[in-house]
Amino acid sequence: MKKIAVVGTGYVGLVTGVGLSHIGHEVTCLDIDPVKIDLLQKGRSPIYEESLEPMIQENQKQKRLSFTSEYEDIQDAEIVLIAVGTPQQQDGSANLTYIFQAAERIAKTINHDVTVVVKSTVPVGTCQRLRNYIQDRTPFSIRMVSNPEFLREGNALKDLFEGDRIVIGSGNPEATQQVMEMYSPFDIPMMTTDLASAELIKYASNAFLATKISFINEISSICEKVGANVEAVAKGMGMDRRIGSSFLQAGIGYGGSCFPKDTKALVQMAGNVEHQFDLLESVIHVNNKQQNKLVDQMKERCGSLVGKRITILGLAFKPGTDDLREAPSLVIIDRLLREGALITAYDPAAMPRAKELFPAVTFASNVKEALMGAELAAIVTEWEEIKELPLSHYEESMEEAILFDGRNCYSLEEVMEHNMEYYSVGRPAIGHTKSATLTHKA
Ligand code: UDX
Repeated sequence: MKKIAVVGTGYVGLVTGVGLSHIGHEVTCLDIDPVKIDLLQKGRSPIYEESLEPMIQENQKQKRLSFTSEYEDIQDAEIVLIAVGTPQQQDGSANLTYIFQAAERIAKTINHDVTVVVKSTVPVGTCQRLRNYIQDRTPFSIRMVSNPEFLREGNALKDLFEGDRIVIGSGNPEATQQVMEMYSPFDIPMMTTDLASAELIKYASNAFLATKISFINEISSICEKVGANVEAVAKGMGMDRRIGSSFLQAGIGYGGSCFPKDTKALVQMAGNVEHQFDLLESVIHVNNKQQNKLVDQMKERCGSLVGKRITILGLAFKPGTDDLREAPSLVIIDRLLREGALITAYDPAAMPRAKELFPAVTFASNVKEALMGAELAAIVTEWEEIKELPLSHYEESMEEAILFDGRNCYSLEEVMEHNMEYYSVGRPAIGHTKSATLTHKA
């Protein structure tokens, strides 16, 4: 059992801190936001993540997990994890203000030699700079480790307990050993490397996954032109174990707090060492194009969208989260409003935030209410309750069922049994009338 401090109770810090306490460590999570800490001290989670809140409460009860906003409370920690945000700046680079602020406070607080583990996603070279920065401000010895996180929102606890790998980068064998011991109850393969390689593994992994998504989305556009079905193409590709079937789901592009930010940051980082990362720039460009796809399809189908009653189903960047950061829904709604459409939207988790962002949108309390009287409907996020909605509901609730499915939720066979027009991604359009002007044919 180790005494661990986690600085930053955002997504990564909180999930990691709670998980480490759950396997028996004594964990203190620190955040400079007193409101957040107050909530956490009462056993409430500020983020939406399945099973997290009961796990917080259980470990608080066992006295293994505590929350504070005072740096003095973490001065005895053997290992300090830094998990503060590194938000994106205008030019795509990461803002390191918070991480250096945390480093300064840690340097002032600790009263013994300590291992500092950086979990925040930081540009290559930052961990070394941070080590020097803290070392210059304390008489105690600082051992630095880069330990990137690979947690998916909505699956974060599962990813923490059953992840594919734990990457531990450090030039210090003692620190590497200490962090390996900290994680050993998880029974996950660990790989050890140097600081810079560990930092780059995180960016390279996310950039590669984003590349897979943009690749299949480009293939989906070709499918539409030649009358092929992208689901079949992805399945056939994925059966080759060298390619693998995951992250080949065509759709309206990736969003969230990681892929858009990390891909742009890697392009920027490459530029700093005079390497133009053409491939990744295209991946980003394709994703921007893809996020506009549904509106392009609607315009092609209807011409003008002025005054059209359009229902948007799903707002979060993916199911299982209330996160709207870089969500395709933001691009879609923004553009539809500019086109003069009248929008009704529904999402099981993300509406409180969406209401603040889009005062001009009407929000419905369930899918059926959202569809009532709509002229066009669009599936933007594939929540279970949205993708399992019987197609008859579209027929019953809409004047004329016209559905734009940005997540390919329904099989074409099923759609063909209904009286509706159906446009999806990388698959033939179904049931479109002669007046429909979409170029690809059923
Ligand atoms: C991602 C990484 O998976 C995780 O390892 C990293 O630490 C943080 O970034 P997350 O942002 O939570 O996690 O979402 P993820 O489930 O990976 O999905 C990202 C986006 O890609 C979503 O918008 C999703 O809709 C999209 N996606 C994913 C596709 O469009 N097609 C796919 O086949 C898979």
